[in-house]
Amino acid sequence: METAPFQFTCSTTPLSLPPNFILPEDKRPHISQVSTLNSIPIIDLNDQIHASENGDFPSLLVEKISRACEEYGFFQIINHGVPQELCNKMMTVSTHFFELPFEQKKQFFTTDFTKQVKLFNYYLNTHGQEKVNTWSQSFSHPGHPIEDLSHLLPENPPQYREVFGEYAKEIGALMNRLLSLISQSLGLEKECLLKRLGENPSLKLQANYYPPCPEPELTLGLGSHTDVDALTILCQSEGVSGLQVIKNGKWVAVDPVPNAFVINLGDQIQVLSNGRYKSVQHRAVTNKVKRISLAMFYGPSMDAVIGPIQELVDEAHPPVYRNYRFAELREEFDRQRGTRRMVKEVFELPKN
Ligand code: OGA
Ligand code: NI
Repeated sequence: METAPFQFTCSTTPLSLPPNFILPEDKRPHISQVSTLNSIPIIDLNDQIHASENGDFPSLLVEKISRACEEYGFFQIINHGVPQELCNKMMTVSTHFFELPFEQKKQFFTTDFTKQVKLFNYYLNTHGQEKVNTWSQSFSHPGHPIEDLSHLLPENPPQYREVFGEYAKEIGALMNRLLSLISQSLGLEKECLLKRLGENPSLKLQANYYPPCPEPELTLGLGSHTDVDALTILCQSEGVSGLQVIKNGKWVAVDPVPNAFVINLGDQIQVLSNGRYKSVQHRAVTNKVKRISLAMFYGPSMDAVIGPIQELVDEAHPPVYRNYRFAELREEFDRQRGTRRMVKEVFELPKN
């Protein structure tokens, strides 16, 4: 049995931050310098319906997505069609799961990142120092094909399997719709990205629980990273902000918008778009009150060949990356575990 870090065993909030969570000065969030202005765009997916009624093309919606992807790599969507009640239920079962006594969830706790279903803590490797834990717990597992994996998921809370099954189906459908819009926003045919990502794509959940933190200025919930897959749909709890993204070298807070999802592009779309769209660095800070987020990641088939899409390569835009099998990139990702990852960079072609 792995030894459980502090948060898994402690049910009350300590008055001060335990030492193994305190980041060195230069790694702390410097919350007072974070901007809440100029946050990421909010896009209404109902614009699509209006556009098709008018027969407009390229639709305003596609243009908005194109601009958001180029300028931020992040946007929020409203009127996305996923029932709010289902999102609330998914939040509730996830919260229940995280708040179970450790005894009842320890079967999922592991430091082995190759496990499909895992409850774990993130940490940062800091220069010349012991690794520092971040103030969060994450629970991760596959979401597709749901029929084959349901039995691996928690039995407690009792609604977990059913609610997650429904949530995964809805999010899967929304992923397809977004991939089609993003393809169009790159001037490609609708099916292009979906096809390039292959016939056995992965859909994974990562639920993140950030317990109430006594000293949010000394630690992080999740360190700065990019998402390695193709596309992420994130649902965050209302009323508490924590997600921050880099814009022009500065951190910008993404405050929760009611009934919205946060969408961001992952590394594989950066590569497929030949660098036109960026997979942007982001992180989560903690608060005096708890916060929960549910990230769903859509990734390529292991055997999909990923590389710049031909139509996006020309003399003015020579290929930035070489082609690779996605399995190759995953191996590189595993090799770099625990470091400040530079995974897609390994597949960059030399500049002429
Ligand atoms: C992630 C992530 C941000 C958040 O799970 O990859 O970036 O707000 N989460 O929890
Ligand atoms: Ni992320």
